[in-house]
Amino acid sequence: MGTQLHMFLFPLMASGHMIPMVDMAKLLAARGVKVTVVTTPLNSIAISNSIHTSKSLSVSNIHLLILKFPTAELGLPEGCENGDSVISPAILPKFISALNLLQTPFEEAVMEHRPHCIVADIFFPWVNNVAAKFGIPKLGFHGIGFFPFCAMEFVRIHQPHNHVSSDTEPFLIPHLPGEISFTKLKLHESMREDLKNDLSDFLKIAQEAESTSYGVVMNSFYELEAEYADCYRNVLGRKAWHIGPLSLCNQEIEEKSQRGKESAIDEHECLKWLDSKKPNSVVYACFGSMTKFSSDQLKEIANGLEACGKDFIWVVRKVNREEKEEDQNWLPEGFEQRMEGKGLIIRGWAPQVLILDHPAVGGFVTHCGWNSTLEGVAAGVPMVTWPVAGEQFYNEKLVTEVLKIGVAVGTQKWVRIVGDFVEGGAMEKAIRRVMEGEEAEEMRNRAKELGKMAKRAVAENGSSYSDLDALIKELKSLAF
Ligand SMILES: *[C@@H]1O[C@H](CO)[C@@H](O)[C@H](O)[C@H]1NC(C)=O
Ligand SMILES: *[C@@H]1O[C@H](CO)[C@@H](O)[C@H](O)[C@H]1NC(C)=O
Repeated sequence: MGTQLHMFLFPLMASGHMIPMVDMAKLLAARGVKVTVVTTPLNSIAISNSIHTSKSLSVSNIHLLILKFPTAELGLPEGCENGDSVISPAILPKFISALNLLQTPFEEAVMEHRPHCIVADIFFPWVNNVAAKFGIPKLGFHGIGFFPFCAMEFVRIHQPHNHVSSDTEPFLIPHLPGEISFTKLKLHESMREDLKNDLSDFLKIAQEAESTSYGVVMNSFYELEAEYADCYRNVLGRKAWHIGPLSLCNQEIEEKSQRGKESAIDEHECLKWLDSKKPNSVVYACFGSMTKFSSDQLKEIANGLEACGKDFIWVVRKVNREEKEEDQNWLPEGFEQRMEGKGLIIRGWAPQVLILDHPAVGGFVTHCGWNSTLEGVAAGVPMVTWPVAGEQFYNEKLVTEVLKIGVAVGTQKWVRIVGDFVEGGAMEKAIRRVMEGEEAEEMRNRAKELGKMAKRAVAENGSSYSDLDALIKELKSLAF
């Protein structure tokens, strides 16, 4: 072979997308691949921190290539280089234009460095053209698993929602194993007339472009969704490699706590708190980096947590400086005093993997982002599913109906745009179902079994480990 394989990795600038792609970079580097992560100046700081906390010597195989982000050209606020900070609909179209403007500098970088392969986020559909121009394979990365991806593709291709008479009438997703029923209100945005905007149009283009990629890399493992991995390859007829859960390649404790942004709490303090609790007794509630709840909803969550009587850790999104003062006083009267010692509220980023892996944690209330869903699976913790947007409603189906390791809290529609509301009582009920009694025990056993399978998948000769070998082998055969 002689020559070293060189890959470009190009993640979307948003933490949920960058974290797994940086994990992927470390994995590839450990197998001797030269990796160049392409990003923008501000995002390169977080990526560089994450790479350099790794103790592994192979990180010297990872390089950073920085493209200037056209904030000024498009009138974006200074420093607005990351999707996490794009909350206002006024900024979104500019952010999308900025992503598209990266094409020219990206193409120049490919010309200069001549990688053998590009792995790009599906938010950069034009990378397909760049790769074709240079005759190199492009692999898509959308940060979700086979189940949600197959579901979205079958809906896109067959449009089953056009045959129902209301937003809430259930229909089956065609070709998807397991008779999964769905409603219009839960569909992802590119299929929804009522959510039509710049982002949904853009996602539609991205989803269509994906079918012309050389293949995809999935942050998943075969045992988790074997039937759907086979379906993806055989029914949709596309190439795919499963190499996850990517979060498991961060074994050392420092790295786990450094995932993503710096934590808003000292991790030792958090672990000490958990150490004082009984096994499987603590509820961990976190709704991801993008979910924005109303004060009323936050109050209901507080009520639900109090009513269920369990100890809990609750991660609340940090309030922005622009937000109004009254929006910050949503906790029920005397809540923090009553919950002293019983509940830990973290405002901002939490060391999620460390928390989930702690034996005291017995239930995970999650928005079902793929990243979080996999982290819950890998930690073997049963879940209360509370999807709010995007493909999260599909992930909920996987967790509750296919894997049977969770209970749905009952959300029916998108919180962010259409508005949904969950009463504290519904939350309490769902938490009790995953934490108490025989049904909970069965869910916990299945979750623990899956957690073990996840660890085996990434270990030497495991399914993900072997598929990564197969991918590298195929790319080498194309390159040399
Ligand atoms: C991704 O994972 C981190 C922890 O590793 C978690 O805190 C974060 O909420 C996740 N991001 C998304 C978008 O789900
Ligand atoms: C992995 O497979 C190879 C080849 O079959 C074998 O030599 C090696 O011992 C295996 N490693 C483990 C940890 O099982």
